[in-house]
Amino acid sequence: MGRVQGKIALITGAASGIGLATAQLLAKEGAKVVLADYNVEGAKAEAENIKALGGEAVGVFLDASKEESIKEAVEFTVSEYGTITILYNNVGLTNLHKDLDVVNIDLDEWDRLMNVNAKSVLLGSRFAIPHMIKAGGGSIINTASMAAFAGDSVRSAYGASKAAVVNLTRYIAAQYGKDKIRCNAVAPGLILTPAAKGNMPPALLAIFEKYNALPYHGEAEDIGNTVLFLASDESKFITGQTIEVEGGHYMANPSIADFQALMAQSK
Ligand SMILES: NC(=O)c1ccc[n+]([C@@H]2O[C@H](COP(=O)([O-])OP(=O)(O)OC[C@H]3O[C@@H](n4cnc5c(N)ncnc54)[C@H](O)[C@@H]3O)[C@@H](O)[C@H]2O)c1
Repeated sequence: MGRVQGKIALITGAASGIGLATAQLLAKEGAKVVLADYNVEGAKAEAENIKALGGEAVGVFLDASKEESIKEAVEFTVSEYGTITILYNNVGLTNLHKDLDVVNIDLDEWDRLMNVNAKSVLLGSRFAIPHMIKAGGGSIINTASMAAFAGDSVRSAYGASKAAVVNLTRYIAAQYGKDKIRCNAVAPGLILTPAAKGNMPPALLAIFEKYNALPYHGEAEDIGNTVLFLASDESKFITGQTIEVEGGHYMANPSIADFQALMAQSK
């Protein structure tokens, strides 16, 4: 018996990275999984790979910037598997070139990131909740980010959109708890997805290494395992929470690495 046996999951942004790792874990633990992604070929190919390993999965097109497309992905899930009991709102965008400091940020980019990162969570939930109520309950999980909890030199829209996800998580939890719908979020720190591995210069990785409490980086499965827990009945008394999965990068005094270096010098 799998940990999410018989549950029916829609995962957005599931053709790669965190969404894909989560789809694989949920399928392995007995859920029927819909992989929704802009990259529909990738989503379908990954669904086939899951099926080849004995899981149940199907891929579908999703443009998370469009209300109609989100509605269609939810309806597709229901027509394919009968209902929806797990919704993982995972799609999120970042843009280091246009999402800058408050004076210089491109305002169209602000709107785009708010739409894709925050409004898509609202819309996915809005369309899935009536089905979950009919099914007798469900679990909604959202991907936030540690950027929701700290200021930074750039990425003002990304941080604000992810903070919106954290509080929207509480609102959904408060509004639909009595319908046995739980809503939680996961806030990743740096996660070395294949895309991140390709994009991160070694100097940038070294900064994360210096300030992480743990001596290694996060991987997509670290987030997937957290989502699996939140999707399963093991977390049945947890709602409205955001679990930080970030290697201890943000939990300590930010100057601790510098203090340690100073102490080492004075020995
Ligand atoms: N990787 C990290 O270090 C990290 C850290 C904090 C938060 N996050 C968050 O985790 C989530 C997943 O990130 P990831 O690193 O796995 O990303 P990724 O780039 O590896 O995968 C994102 C997937 O979403 C799809 N996608 C992009 N725009 C879409 C759209 N409009 N509609 C449908 N699909 C779309 C892409 O095709 C891709 O398959 C995001 O919300 C991101 O903000 C990631």
